[in-house]
Amino acid sequence: MSERLAVVGGGVIGLSCAWAAARAGWRVTLVDAAPASGASWVAGGMLAPVTEAWPGEEPLLELGLASVALWPAWAADLARAAGRPAGLRTEGTVVAATGPGDRAELDTLAAHLGRLGRPVERLSGRELRRLEPALGPDVRGGLSVPDDLSVDNRALLAALRSAAQQAGVVVDRRAARVVGGGPEPRVECVEGPPVQADVVLVSAGAHSSGLHPALAGVVRPVKGEILRLGHRAGAFPMPTRTVRALVDGRPVYLVPRENGLVVGATQSENGFDTEPTAGGVRDLLRDAERIVPGIAEYALVEAAAGLRPGSPDNVPLIGVLEPGLLVATGHSRNGILLAPITAAAVVASLRGDPVPAVVEAADPGRFAGIRR
Ligand code: GLY
Repeated sequence: MSERLAVVGGGVIGLSCAWAAARAGWRVTLVDAAPASGASWVAGGMLAPVTEAWPGEEPLLELGLASVALWPAWAADLARAAGRPAGLRTEGTVVAATGPGDRAELDTLAAHLGRLGRPVERLSGRELRRLEPALGPDVRGGLSVPDDLSVDNRALLAALRSAAQQAGVVVDRRAARVVGGGPEPRVECVEGPPVQADVVLVSAGAHSSGLHPALAGVVRPVKGEILRLGHRAGAFPMPTRTVRALVDGRPVYLVPRENGLVVGATQSENGFDTEPTAGGVRDLLRDAERIVPGIAEYALVEAAAGLRPGSPDNVPLIGVLEPGLLVATGHSRNGILLAPITAAAVVASLRGDPVPAVVEAADPGRFAGIRR
């Protein structure tokens, strides 16, 4: 008889882990009142360890590089299992800067990556416009980072749901209230009987903090607002690569989709507020238009906000929280990027095997409140 795994949270991390565990022989129940509807649904879908890198965050960079290297084979495997595309785009990323302050920030990033033995190509504004004619005249310089990729997050979620279902994952559409490990691991829900399992995995993103006392104060919601724009007939063509930029110190990104762009993202901490604000929409449109002026002709299709599951060091928590209770949360800005390596590490933990070496930095035991 195979063992029972209850996965709490059906975003990109929960679905990826549920699919991987079911393929590894576990009987998996995914507990989520509304799977695939939170931060993973709102996300921009950048797979961007290099252009998210910052001095002091080297373990996160190593984790991200290891995961982005898994992405092409993982996406192909997922597409085969799901019978539908996983949404991966491999055109790469450019980073654009406008004023001197923004160019100085990019110099810091480029120097940091050079010191780590990962030089990036510096380009003038004219060279960037040769690569991406959609970039406007305010772009004065930047970087080309061909190995930072992207994925259509909604195509990805549809593929994961289909692959998980075909692998035997059962979805319990109730809201989890509290989880426990020990000799009788369980998920208590807001209504009905608890879900009993041999192992419970908490992968509920920003909501993980309310499910177990050890996660309270470790994982926190970090709001991000995002826009979806649709290309319209006659409008200036879209960029083909992800475009990231700094505009007067504010970060903005434009991630291509089949027939439009995702523009993101604001960052603020207001508890569990998921309402997009007029100011957030204004900032994103103003900054994105400075970089790609043609978007003024595009359709405004959607404004939404999601809650990134922030962690104190931006590195996720992946591993054992207590006997019978695993955690995969706190992925901060990088949940979609880190899905393949997180799923691999969770399956290793379920088997009692060591996690890949780069995942050791994500050991939940690094936080004082988590004792095992
Ligand atoms: N990964 C981009 C963001 O969190 O906005």
